[in-house]
Amino acid sequence: MSEQVNTEKKKMLLSGIQPTGVFTLGNYIGAIRNWGQMQEDYDCAYFIADLHSLTVRQEASELKKRIKEAYALLLACGIDPEKSIVFIQSHVPTHAELGWILQCYTQFGELSRMTQFKDKSAQHPENVNAGLFAYPALMAADILLYQPDFVPVGVDQKQHIELTRTIVNRINGIYGDVFKMPEPYIGKSGAKIMSLQSPDKKMSKSDENPNGYVTILDEPNVIMNKFKRAVTDSETEVVFREGKDGINNLMTIYSVLTNKSLEEVQKEFEGKGYGDFKKAVGECVVDALTPIRENYARLIKDNAYLEECYKKGAEQATRISYRTLAKVKKKVGLLPPA
Ligand code: TYM
Repeated sequence: MSEQVNTEKKKMLLSGIQPTGVFTLGNYIGAIRNWGQMQEDYDCAYFIADLHSLTVRQEASELKKRIKEAYALLLACGIDPEKSIVFIQSHVPTHAELGWILQCYTQFGELSRMTQFKDKSAQHPENVNAGLFAYPALMAADILLYQPDFVPVGVDQKQHIELTRTIVNRINGIYGDVFKMPEPYIGKSGAKIMSLQSPDKKMSKSDENPNGYVTILDEPNVIMNKFKRAVTDSETEVVFREGKDGINNLMTIYSVLTNKSLEEVQKEFEGKGYGDFKKAVGECVVDALTPIRENYARLIKDNAYLEECYKKGAEQATRISYRTLAKVKKKVGLLPPA
């Protein structure tokens, strides 16, 4: 953060995303869209969580490409390196270092209870590695290095932030005031966008069925087709109600992207069929994603600009995070270098 920003006493926020494929509409609505909007009112740091993606086996040359693409995607979504610190996690060595220290203050039992660990170890039984298990301690380090007030995420990351808060209580309890307590910031609507094919499951880029998710680079005709095929129910009414997971999900997407309340959406589609509604949802998604796809096409060709941005981001992030790391090392009793 610049000195100027600090004197304005803006609150700080931080969040990250893994570079494991093109971001989905779920990532966009649940997280990145909010990140962009919050840049005006907060001091923000956003990063590509590439170290986290190593917990699942990756093809090296493919990962390298995806990290750069993910960085370009963040910028394409309106994350502005002039306003926010935008960096790549592995370029900032303090993350892995504090991650180790925090592992030593995180209990085996706590990590065993994490649903993401349980899900991912079930998905990849051949590679249940120590990194996958310790992942939330690294995530706590990502957060605490920047002493943020808020961490804007989708619902699925809430448990990790709660564990981060437990770690803060533990460390502050032993050593005094080391970390500021971060709060999760979860949007009122859209914090869990569901699969278009199995609306009881979260929309995810690792879904085997590509019709279940929309990526933020999907072409308009692909988007329209995916919404046309979206699973609904055997009724006909566009109304938000328990048991109507598919319609609830589509109404949420439409409501967030058009800034209309669920009641307004319901009124708008009174007497109209699901076909008309799905078409309208598809169209509003196309409208939201078209400028992003255009920005991305331009940015991904400008390697020099991307490098300049992530170099600057890493320098800014290193400077801030180093201060916290030095404080932690001192508090826990490590001898400073001569
Ligand atoms: P990741 O990469 O899985 O997801 C990035 C963000 O997108 C949100 N999200 C969703 N929101 C609504 N509906 C969905 N279907 C949906 N799918 C994903 C996620 O909640 C998240 O906010 N562990 C993190 C990355 C991370 C991080 C951090 C985040 C590493 N260190 C520190 C915050 C702070 C992850 O895997 O997110």
